[in-house]
Amino acid sequence: MSLRQELTLELIGDPTRPVFIDLAESLIREIQRGRLRPGQILPGTRALSRTLGLHRNTVDAAYHELVMQGWLVSRASRGTFVAEDLPSAIRTDLAPLPHTGRHSRPSRRLESVLTITDGTPDPRLMPRVELARAFRTVMTSSQFLSRGSYSDSQGASALRDALAEEFLNARGLSVSADNILITHGSQMGLFLAASAILSPGDGIAVENPGYPFAWASFRSGGARVVGVPVDHEGLDVDCLAQTLRNDPGIRAVYVTPHHQYPTTVTLGAGRRLKLLELARQHDLLIIEDDYDHDYRFDSAPVLPLAARAAADQRLIHIGSLSKLTIPALRLGYVIAPPDILKRMIEMREAIDRQGDVPLEQAMALMIRNGVLGRHARKARRIYVERRDFLLRKVREKLGDAVTFSAPAGGLAVWMKINPCIDGEDWRISAKKNGLYIENGNSFFIESKNDASYLRFGYAHLDIGEIEKAVCILSRYETRFG
Ligand SMILES: Cc1ncc(COP(=O)(O)O)c(C=O)c1O
Repeated sequence: MSLRQELTLELIGDPTRPVFIDLAESLIREIQRGRLRPGQILPGTRALSRTLGLHRNTVDAAYHELVMQGWLVSRASRGTFVAEDLPSAIRTDLAPLPHTGRHSRPSRRLESVLTITDGTPDPRLMPRVELARAFRTVMTSSQFLSRGSYSDSQGASALRDALAEEFLNARGLSVSADNILITHGSQMGLFLAASAILSPGDGIAVENPGYPFAWASFRSGGARVVGVPVDHEGLDVDCLAQTLRNDPGIRAVYVTPHHQYPTTVTLGAGRRLKLLELARQHDLLIIEDDYDHDYRFDSAPVLPLAARAAADQRLIHIGSLSKLTIPALRLGYVIAPPDILKRMIEMREAIDRQGDVPLEQAMALMIRNGVLGRHARKARRIYVERRDFLLRKVREKLGDAVTFSAPAGGLAVWMKINPCIDGEDWRISAKKNGLYIENGNSFFIESKNDASYLRFGYAHLDIGEIEKAVCILSRYETRFG
């Protein structure tokens, strides 16, 4: 079939809304199920209107709408195509239907698929224009021409300087650019850290529940991942002490003290001191993942372990810009003792030579010119409103289906599902209604069959989308007995 000529479609019919929205939704459905593939050309508006028996303006309006939303792209004198950059064929994070001003009919939202992520930022808030401007400045600078070749495997010095002087300072970390390694996201930092400090068969203690992507990094180098329980104050340090006594092969511990992943609790002050002391006694290396420090809403900022640690403490501090910007930008950083940092830089050079220099330089500009700081303040304001709205709605609409403690920060809420509810069935039912939820049990080391937890990442959803997501969850028929 050449779609240029003909595309037959069954229109999703809803008499309460304009036909162009029905058509737009039908096209989205075909994209989502893979019938229309990224890059594929669509029939012209005249041809499609003839095939479907619609007015040409209706087809034109639907195409226009989908171009505005990013599903389609229109290329002058070539036609309309399915966008190439739809993540894994399905875009689940659809923006609400924008009011285009082009149509006189009232614009309604497209029924779209929503995803509850594990706590990701809203790309719609990202200062994209400013970032594009920063890129332009970098790419057109004479310095870029003169230094456009291979450069420092440790990362662009402009970004390391900016992080050291303006960013990490606020986290109580007094470091110089020499102490920092820039990575492609903190995931690379976790991998390099594990490779630099662990040998095959070595153990690394991790929080359980915890962050499976970190475990994957540790395991890929042959390390043994040993779970230590977490409670309302974070990692149970007494249990860690016991685990260390039982397993002398444990060389390191991985922690998320700011907001424990996935439970969101903050590691208590007493436990922090105990952990640092325990690590000293056992010559244990601490890997601190400070992934979401930008978002603390309810109290004074809690400084990282690295800010408390004595100068000779063996600690690797890993941070990410994914939550402050967007995960797709892939920027993270590591601060580590010099011998470890050196090994990590050598390893990075072996697999990746160097980072993305234009991106690193553009981000340095965004830090220096205050854009990132302004964005952080704005994002915090918006996310705290979203968090409060979510908590209100969940209490109102889900009653005792879930229990939770309001998180003091971060981009997600950890919820325990009422044992009377079959969590997996709830998840499947939500999916049928257009809401994707990850199974909260994937955060546990041991496999569990019942879906008894939910990490509700809310920040990427606006108020309307949060309301819709909670409504879908509340529709579950057999809920609450
Ligand atoms: C615990 C934890 N660490 C790190 C990250 C950030 O990863 P990256 O910087 O690779 O995007 C995340 C992101 O979700 C996370 O949840």
